[in-house]
Order: sequence, then structure tokens, then C-alpha cells
Amino acid sequence: MNINLKIKNCFKLRVVCLFSLLVFNSYIINVNAQQGKKISPYLFGLFFEDINYAADGGLYAEMVQNRSFEYAPADTPQWHSLTSWEYVKQVFSYGSLNIETNNPIHLNNPHYVVLDIQHVGKHATGEYSDIPENKGTPGVGIKNLGYDAMIVKAGEHYDFSMFARQISGKPMSFVVSLQGTDGKILVEDKIIIDSKDWKKYTTTLTASENSDSASLLVLGTSKGKLAIDVVSLFPQNTFKNRKNGLRADLAQLLADMKPAFVRFPGGCLVHGDGTNNMYRWKHTVGPIEQRVEQKNLWGYHQTMGLGYFEYFQFCEDIGAKPVPVLPAAVSCQNSGGTWRIGGTGQQALPMEDMEAYIQEVLDLVEWANGSATSKWGSIRAATGHPEAFNLEFIGIGNEDKITPEFQERFNMITQAVKAKYPEIQLIGTSGPFSDGEDFEKGWAIANKNNLPLVDEHYYKQPEWFLSNLNRYDSYDRKKPGVYLGEYASWGNKLKNAIAEAAYMTTLERNADIVKMASYAPLFAKKNHTQWTTDMIFFDNKEYSLTPNYHVQKMFSTNYGDTYYKNIISTEKDTTLSASCLKDNKTGDIILKMVNTGVESKNMKVNLSKFKNFIPDAEQITLTGDAEAENTLENPTHIVPKNSNTKVSKSFDYIAPPMSLTVIRIKTKTKY
Ligand code: AHR
Repeated sequence: MNINLKIKNCFKLRVVCLFSLLVFNSYIINVNAQQGKKISPYLFGLFFEDINYAADGGLYAEMVQNRSFEYAPADTPQWHSLTSWEYVKQVFSYGSLNIETNNPIHLNNPHYVVLDIQHVGKHATGEYSDIPENKGTPGVGIKNLGYDAMIVKAGEHYDFSMFARQISGKPMSFVVSLQGTDGKILVEDKIIIDSKDWKKYTTTLTASENSDSASLLVLGTSKGKLAIDVVSLFPQNTFKNRKNGLRADLAQLLADMKPAFVRFPGGCLVHGDGTNNMYRWKHTVGPIEQRVEQKNLWGYHQTMGLGYFEYFQFCEDIGAKPVPVLPAAVSCQNSGGTWRIGGTGQQALPMEDMEAYIQEVLDLVEWANGSATSKWGSIRAATGHPEAFNLEFIGIGNEDKITPEFQERFNMITQAVKAKYPEIQLIGTSGPFSDGEDFEKGWAIANKNNLPLVDEHYYKQPEWFLSNLNRYDSYDRKKPGVYLGEYASWGNKLKNAIAEAAYMTTLERNADIVKMASYAPLFAKKNHTQWTTDMIFFDNKEYSLTPNYHVQKMFSTNYGDTYYKNIISTEKDTTLSASCLKDNKTGDIILKMVNTGVESKNMKVNLSKFKNFIPDAEQITLTGDAEAENTLENPTHIVPKNSNTKVSKSFDYIAPPMSLTVIRIKTKTKY
């Protein structure tokens, strides 16, 4: 009995000790937490849309343009099945070429080329030997000109593939080659087409020299008739060497930003030009020859080669959360018109199609997160990814007009997802502007449905950003959080980027309610740009990082988990903005100081709240002429400069004119 009592008392004592320890620990945590404000763990991410040739002809590494012969006047009036292809007859050979749709590889991919090679010529000798018609390998075939030609590099390996089926019933020989200027052969290989059924033929080509103007020739060198489709050429050197992968240099730029999330596939591309053009995720997974290609509402074509699997895979490869945005069963309000003007207006899916559409939305969650034995999880697993992708967020709708048709469908979709997958964080939409009718209505629906997040979009002059630095200070913390899904100041000059930097310090200050933010759009290809303010400009070979990119990267790679106020004094100078974060994983204190004015300005920094910091700190500064910008010709005019600096408990920082400065200070305190 006594012994028992003793044991009980001892146990009680241990519990009391443990409890006091916990209380004491939580006291420490609270003391520290009182000093700072916990902020969103995933504030800065990326917005990706196939606008400005961002995907096809851009990030997606496919080098063959119109590989499936699915280009059509619907994409852009002068386009057709043979856009970017040439019909080639060499050395007095002849035949015919047609586009057919009978018995395609797959019903989703109806068009293919039929090549009927009736005669394969022989090289002439003597006086005719030098004429152009006598050049090259005898045969009949097709040549792809790529997206503004192809770039090949000496010694690099390129994976060629094409589907073919014999029509004339006997094997046919082909020569596949990469050609440089004036038809110079950089590499060639032979393939034999030996099947009456559609079959994939592959070879690897290794270029003998560099060329910026290469093309791909697929030349039949024996008589016969055959069908050809999905002619593809990929560098083996894609990002992380993925098959059907991404252009390594461009993808690396995104990885370097360490984005917390990637939103895809848009933008207006999501809700599309009419309900038949809505982006349907199921059309974009599975073998590329079975995906449903369609017009891109930005005036070109989507192969869907960069589809949902590739987006999710990329997110995983760079440690970013995938944020797919699905149509709210209505199309863009500008459908049928020129961008933002006119058109037939929003179209809604008929009510009788809604059950299937809602199922499609629910299936996405199973596809991404379901076990490899679930119906849709097994489809993901079959693509080589048995593990779940850990989908946490889904956007429903993209800056739609908030009509009764929209509201009804939006409610149906969100209620179904909430019921089946309450763990998924749904993101509502609030129109294309920072305020106004759709903005108000979009927010009202989100409030009513108690959604975790609402997507805000605005593109403004830099002055607007500077006069709205308090926008989120007064947002109701009890209401849904903000996902600032698209924003940019109009322009890619340093002054634009610095205005955005000032605004981003306020996003950090309000990152308890502004949970996510992504600059938009991301990419723009030279000569194929529909939207002029973008983050990264590129051509087939080079890229230019805008000052806006550098600002985004300086913020996303220098983020923390706790915001501290009153560390940096801007002395009520409206040209100055600042923020102070702590990253408790590393223990680092991160100061950001922005001067949007044209003169140097002093800021006072008081670090007395922080214990044990190390005076030797790292500094990055982006500064220059307000009007300066980077171009493909001069990509490094404005770049951040790294340096070392010394900090103390209280110090002055003189911020250069038109600048963003990040100072990273190490501490020995992590909690
Ligand atoms: O980012 C470019 C476009 O701007 C997006 O497609 C659309 O959502 C917005 O209006």
C-alpha cells in the first residue's frame, strides 16, 4: 500500500515536473512568439501559363513544332496540318504527300501524314552533278523547321521518335537526319518501317557540330506508301534528364528561385475560349500520342505535351507545392472575342454535364493523392509515379465573371470537393481587377462558403503599388486568406521591379492573411509575345532575366517563418519600405530594405530584440537607373550584387536610390 502510494506520489511528481517543463518551454516559445508574428510558410511561388510560347516552344523541350500534324486554322487562321513542315524530294525522286484521318493512332490525335514514294532517283553524273536537285540522299520525305529553327550542340544526344505504319505492305527504309545551314548533315541514322500497325520507331542522334538553324529531315529512301505521326525530337539533356521533359536552362531558373509553389496551367488558358476550349486535366495525361491537343487562346496551339503529370513532376523536382487551377465549368467572359474586348461572353457547361465534370475534379485528387491501387492513382502509378504527389491546393476558376451561372457551378464543385476531400484547400476567384463588382462578388462567395483562400489578380502602374502599400493591413483576419495569384506593375524596368519589391515587403508584413503570391506572367519568347510585361524573356538559345525576376528571387530565397515589426525604421518616408523576418530553421534574421526614390536614404536598424547574432552578414543589393532594363542583347545590365557586411545591435543602413537590399544575419538561436 505504502509502496504504491510512494510510486503514485513519485509519478505525480514526475507529471508535475513534466508539466512545469512544458509550461516553461511553452513560456519560452510564447515569449519569442510575442515578439514576432507567424507567417505563411509558402508565401512566394510561381505562376505558370502557356502564354507567349511559355510551354510549347518554350519550357517544354520538344524541338519539333506541330509534331502531330494537329495545327489548324482554329489556332491561328493561316495554320494547317503542315505548318512548320516542308515536303522534300531529293535527287529526282517523286511521290505525294497527303493529310489523312482514317485509322489514326488514337481518336484524340486524328491527323497524320501519308507519304507515297513513287520513285527514288539516282545521282546524276557529269554536267548535272552540281545542280541543286542532285544534292543530298535520294528520297522523299518531310522536314521540320522547329520553333523558329532548332538549336543543336556538338556532342549532345537527341532522342528521335516517330510513329508509322506501312500502307503498301512492305518494309520501307528511312534516313533521319539533323541538318544545319545549307542542308549540311550534322548527324543521320537509318530506320526501317516494318509494321502494318502503328508502331513507334526511335533512334538517338548525336550532333557533330553546333547549329542555331538546324532542322529535322525524315526521308524515305525506298518506294512505298506509309502513314507517319507524332514525330518528336528531344534533347536528352532536359531538366533532371526527364523524358518528355523541360528545357534544362529555363527550368533551372525556376528551380533557383526555390518557389514554395507553382500554379498552373494559367491564367485565362484555364477557363478557355468557350467551353470546348476549357483546359481539361484528363486530356493532358497519358502517352503524348493520346493527349487531346487544342487551340491556345493566346493565338497558337497546345500540344499538351507539358501536361498535368509533367507539371506535378516538375513541382516535386523543385520542392514546390503543386497548385492546379481548374475551370469553374464556365469559359472566359471574353470568349469568341479579342482579349478583354467583345466576344460572345462567358459560356457555361450545361447542367446535365455537371455531374461528370464534378467527378473529373474529384478524380484529380485521387489521381494525385490516391494509392497506387485506386482507380486514378493506378493511372498515375502506371506513368511511373506510384507515390502520391501530395496535392494540397486546388483553384476553382480563373478571374471569371461572377454570373449566376458561374455561382451555381462554383458552389456545386466546391461543395463536392469539400465533402469528399475536406483536407484540400480550395481557392476561390475574384475577377481580373483589384476591386469592382466581380471582386466583391467573388469575395462574398468565398466568405459564404468559408473557403480557405481567394485568388486576387491585378496588373497596375508602379505608382499604384506604391500608393497601396497598406492594402492588406486592414483585411479581416477571420475571413479567407489571400492568394495574390497574378500581379505585376506594367513594365520590366528597374523602377517596376523596385515598386514590386516595396509591395512585397507589405505582403511579408501581412503574410498571416496573404498566404501566397505569384508574379505573372512568367515567360515570354522573342517574337511570340502576347503579354509584354513578363518575368523571363528567352529565345531558343538564350534568356534574359528581368529586374522583376531578380526581385522575386531575392524575396523567395530569403524568406522566413516569423515577421518582426519595428526592427527597421523608415522614419515615415514614403519612398522607403522594409521588413524583417526570421527563418527559425536556419536561425537567420533577414532584413529587406527598399528605396523607391532617386536619392540615397538612411534607415535605422535595431536588432536588440535578437540574441546571439553574428556581426558578419551577407548582403545582396539590386540597384541602378530607374529606367534600366535587361534585354536578350544585354542581359546583365541590372543584376544583384553580393557582398559581405557587418551589423551591430543598432546600425544605420544607407539605401542606394532605386534599390532593394537583403541582409542575411546568422544567429545561434533557432526555435
Ligand atoms: O497573366 C496573363 C493573363 O492575365 C492571365 O491569363 C489572366 O488570368 C490575366 O488576366
